[in-house]
Amino acid sequence: MERTLSIIKPDGVARGIIGEVIKRLEINNLKIVAMKMLKMDTALAQGFYAVHKERPFFDSLTDFMTSGPVVVMVLEGENAITKYREIMGATDYREAAEGTIRKDFATDIEKNVVHGSDSPETAAFEISYFFNRFELIV
Ligand code: CMP
Repeated sequence: MERTLSIIKPDGVARGIIGEVIKRLEINNLKIVAMKMLKMDTALAQGFYAVHKERPFFDSLTDFMTSGPVVVMVLEGENAITKYREIMGATDYREAAEGTIRKDFATDIEKNVVHGSDSPETAAFEISYFFNRFELIV
């Protein structure tokens, strides 16, 4: 069993596709073991995306991520990290496979509806960034 962090980004929440995203997680046996809605401030978004701080898109990305509420979840399942990345599709929606969340809903490389951890180490950091142990269902 593996855990991964999922974020439904401000564009996904604003467009009313929280339910659609969650449906795709559930039908793929990714179990939600923690969930909350919150609005990030700049410091929270910058800390979350600190690995990207030298990238040209960093300021725009953190502005976008603070532009509205997000839904943050912890997903659990077999190979959850890889499985969720397959369900999301490529970061750039133009390269995403048919039937993926980003192929179906993303409008922009930045406004790409969802985020998912990319490795076990990243998942551990990202999960503990948003959730304490009392908020994680065991
Ligand atoms: P995410 O999976 O959350 O990880 C970093 C985010 O930066 C990415 O999704 C996009 O929202 C955003 N981003 C914007 N421009 C780029 C880019 N050129 N390459 C990768 N990520 C980008």
